[in-house]
Amino acid sequence: MSLSSIEVRVINISFRDIEFKLEEFEDIFYTKLFVSAPHLRSLFAEDLSTQRSHMGEAFNLFAKNAENIDEMGDMLKDLGGRHTEYGADEDLYPIVCSSMVEALSEVVGSSWTQEAHEAWSHFLEILSQYMIEGTRLKLK
Ligand code: HEM
Repeated sequence: MSLSSIEVRVINISFRDIEFKLEEFEDIFYTKLFVSAPHLRSLFAEDLSTQRSHMGEAFNLFAKNAENIDEMGDMLKDLGGRHTEYGADEDLYPIVCSSMVEALSEVVGSSWTQEAHEAWSHFLEILSQYMIEGTRLKLK
């Protein structure tokens, strides 16, 4: 499971616009997620501030390792395993990932491109596959 070298470049370039705006990304992400899927709000803690910094840190790590996703495989499977405790069923991944991509596009603004949309969607799909693998291992 890997990205093409063009996708990695596109992710790295767009992340330059995102890395210093991770708090803004997190705020927009949760707003979008809970507008499109209000029933998911109850899975999250009432105070999202701790969760927000986890999400920002994780995105930093993911984006910086986009070239070597497989090296993050074990970490992603563990993260997926923990998600069973959060009530994150497999079928919820697409809505969460599309809210993430929409939030990224809003943070990047006018320099966001169709290529960036496709590269980030593919990236999050691969991350999800690892996490779901971890979920299945945990539920076995
Ligand atoms: C690519 C997909 C996803 C990524 C990268 C991701 C990332 C994260 C990270 C980094 C954390 C911090 C806690 C930890 O490290 O264990 C977290 C927590 C959490 N995630 Fe995800 N997640 C994803 C998908 C999902 C999905 C599909 C759901 C389902 C609704 C979900 C719901 C949650 C919840 C409920 C928490 C705990 C938050 C709290 O206690 O308030 N996540 N996620």
